[in-house]
Amino acid sequence: MEVFNSPEAARVFVSALRSQGRTVGFVPTMGALHAGHLSLVESARSCDAVVASIYVNPTQFGPNEDLAKYPRTLNADLEQLRSAGVSAVFVPTNEQMYPDGFSTTVEPPRVSETLEGTCRPGHFRGVVTVVLKLLNAVPASHAYFGKKDYQQWRVIEAMSHDLNVGTKIIGCETVREADGLAMSSRNRYLTVEQRARALLLSETLQHVETAFRGGEIQTDILQNSMRRMLLGENVSATTANAPNLHRLDTLQYAQIVSAHDLTPLSSIDRPAVALIAGMIGTTRLIDNRELTLDVN
Ligand code: PAF
Repeated sequence: MEVFNSPEAARVFVSALRSQGRTVGFVPTMGALHAGHLSLVESARSCDAVVASIYVNPTQFGPNEDLAKYPRTLNADLEQLRSAGVSAVFVPTNEQMYPDGFSTTVEPPRVSETLEGTCRPGHFRGVVTVVLKLLNAVPASHAYFGKKDYQQWRVIEAMSHDLNVGTKIIGCETVREADGLAMSSRNRYLTVEQRARALLLSETLQHVETAFRGGEIQTDILQNSMRRMLLGENVSATTANAPNLHRLDTLQYAQIVSAHDLTPLSSIDRPAVALIAGMIGTTRLIDNRELTLDVN
């Protein structure tokens, strides 16, 4: 497996494969790899070659976010990518990505303006700028992003479409622990007690999907019930004396929106997605569930 630090070296490698008519699947990551990332690699293996990147992009973290403590496990990550059959890994430094004098950023598309865009000002500007730079260094035929970061996937898809990036953007299903918790590099911050509470996200999404499949399509009703669950307002009498054990510490949003452009819906009359973000202790967690009526 090749490891490139410079964008030029990565581009020469990928361009040579593409000029031989081969497809290249790209898996951009921030490292701290887990089974979710490896499932993206597995999807990318439908291409002739797989290239990954590992780069903790500082410009997508807010001033009070976890950039300094974000887990960095480079050697273990490289070993996992090698075992997964990746051909090359692009591992740039901050100086290579943002050299002295760097001053260009990408204006993120409209779909970035709500939800994460509201909670994390500047986040998507950092994401679309770095992803465009990564796609310029790795001009792959296909690039794979997890739907766990649902809005990020839609934002990158819109940026890529609007700016005529020649790479096909593919969203891949969220990988979950056996009990339903969505895999995330940030789960390792959770204490045992917080880890138990983090299950509220997937349980709430399961509850909303069950209600939807049972015929409830009014989003205000579904959203209110999500919020009550996430804030521990429907705990049973036996647990009511310890309500903090059954709630998020802060709920940032629990919303149901159109799956394509993430605009609000009053009823689920088209493909939709329920999205949740909140804090448990100092850890920020997100999760989502697509709500689509199967048409036979
Ligand atoms: O999802 C991530 O890991 C990051 O946001 C990405 C897409 C690699 C850009 O830094």
